[in-house]
Amino acid sequence: MGTLDGKTIGELEEIAARYPQKRSGLLPMLHLAQSVEGRITPEAVEKCAEILEISPADVHGVATFYTMYKRHGVGDFHVGVCTNTLCAVMGGDEILARLKDHLGVANDEVAPKRQGDQYTVSLEHVECNAACDYAPVMMVNWEFLDNQTPDSAVRTVEALRAGHPVRSTRGPRLCTWREAERVLAGFPDDLVDDGPAAGPASLAGLEIARERGWTAPGGDGQAPAETTTASKQQAAGTADTQRAESETVEETSGTDEAAAEKPEAK
Ligand code: FES
Repeated sequence: MGTLDGKTIGELEEIAARYPQKRSGLLPMLHLAQSVEGRITPEAVEKCAEILEISPADVHGVATFYTMYKRHGVGDFHVGVCTNTLCAVMGGDEILARLKDHLGVANDEVAPKRQGDQYTVSLEHVECNAACDYAPVMMVNWEFLDNQTPDSAVRTVEALRAGHPVRSTRGPRLCTWREAERVLAGFPDDLVDDGPAAGPASLAGLEIARERGWTAPGGDGQAPAETTTASKQQAAGTADTQRAESETVEETSGTDEAAAEKPEAK
């Protein structure tokens, strides 16, 4: 039985009202439904169709086209391992194989919850995450974990299952699947700036172009303001950019402060 309560239905209507054409709100509405029910249920399809005044078939077509929408349950932490070309060359296949073996699951399955585990983990082979400059990469609830190894991947899933706070190599604390889905629905958690805008590997080409005076055809030779800011961050050699090169950071656990940061199980 579905769990779309009055508050959720009100928020679905709020999302639809953000757009001149309310059917444009379908993607964030589906994320909100996932944040409540963990997946896209038939009830969510019907409710979205009703609010948007489109057919359930239209909603179903969208929900089954994009791989970020799930018709089956995933874990509290959904782990995606990229095995596309560059990640595969850099070790992505070994990471996926190791996690399958360690968790005892096949692709797109949830690992059984063991005694003492606080959270569940699911595993999925994903296509290129457009993060090839930090290959091989892994994602947890859509946050990047750069420059991974089979050992770092296993450490990450074990820390997540145990309920230890874990940060992305780019800064943000990893939140649960449902928390992440709510952010994707357009309800911010105020962590958007918790991490660097771009790391050294992403900016290497820009730096080379500047050194050599290269510009895009038809361009004025000036980098966009946002890029300039990011480049300054890189030049400053901040701790954030150094962190992007490191393996997964598991925060100190066992303290009251760390316990207070534990994501809430849904
Ligand atoms: S090939 Fe893995 S992020 Fe592009």
